[in-house]
Amino acid sequence: MTDGTTAAPHSDGPLCRRLAGRTAVVTGAGSGIGLATARRLASEGANVVCADVDTVRGKAAAEETGGTYAETDVTDKEQVEALFRTAKERYGSVDVAFNNAGISPPDDDSILTTGLDAWKRVQEVNLTSVYLCCQAALPYMREQGRGSIINTASFVAVMGAATSQISYTASKGGVLAMSRELGVQFAREGIRVNALCPGPVNTPLLQELFAKDPERAQRRLVHVPVGRFAEATEIAAAVAFLASDDSTFVNATEFLVDGGIAGAYVTPV
Ligand SMILES: NC(=O)c1ccc[n+]([C@@H]2O[C@H](COP(=O)([O-])OP(=O)(O)OC[C@H]3O[C@@H](n4cnc5c(N)ncnc54)[C@H](O)[C@@H]3O)[C@@H](O)[C@H]2O)c1
Repeated sequence: MTDGTTAAPHSDGPLCRRLAGRTAVVTGAGSGIGLATARRLASEGANVVCADVDTVRGKAAAEETGGTYAETDVTDKEQVEALFRTAKERYGSVDVAFNNAGISPPDDDSILTTGLDAWKRVQEVNLTSVYLCCQAALPYMREQGRGSIINTASFVAVMGAATSQISYTASKGGVLAMSRELGVQFAREGIRVNALCPGPVNTPLLQELFAKDPERAQRRLVHVPVGRFAEATEIAAAVAFLASDDSTFVNATEFLVDGGIAGAYVTPV
């Protein structure tokens, strides 16, 4: 690092409590972006319902954030319905739905080699889950006349990669289109729906992959204008904004948090 532009900014955490009294459901809350977001939303005053298939991590997230754990497989309609019902029954409202759980398995690769099983599994976890979560959250939000839905897509929903994960990319394109449509359909009922499109995030998985193969990291980093991957806390900060009343005119967007990747042609050396 040669200057301050590539460092992740130091943060002492939020200075405001924009979500006091609000209830937020976070799927995939046990790890990565979901965990960082559960922490951030709780620190801004929200009651957080932490959903995950991983019971140990999900419970730990709920304990740390003072929220509630809901064991949920987001591909299961009944479990998803039970998740949002839990939020409503325990806290009285469903104000924020951060539909974030997703997978990126190694057998989802080039279209030339990706089998139907891998294709379908990724579609189920990444796209069908978002359909189910929105379907379950919307009736509560319509009744309240208020709500913010944030669906995790990805920057690969808006640009192509030669290092393909074909089902993942297609699933995120689906999340983006579905979010836009819902944002338009329910706009006059006080409900906003946005697709969050993060760039690559500095997760343990990514670190392990790139530690083993630095060339693989470099191939990607050269496309990032800021010269580094995102921290999960930086993505969580964007979710908190979209969840809060600071974003009341932000709706049906592809909300890129990608360090400028999607806007770049030639990046600084
Ligand atoms: N990490 C990145 O670089 C990056 C970039 C863009 C978008 N995303 C997206 O962000 C989201 C979160 O990614 P992450 O990097 O934090 O991943 P992660 O693997 O760290 O966390 C995902 C969590 O989802 C849970 N999960 C998986 N399948 C589930 C299921 N069927 N039901 C309930 N929970 C389930 C896992 O147990 C895990 O706790 C995903 O949708 C991912 O596609 C990630």
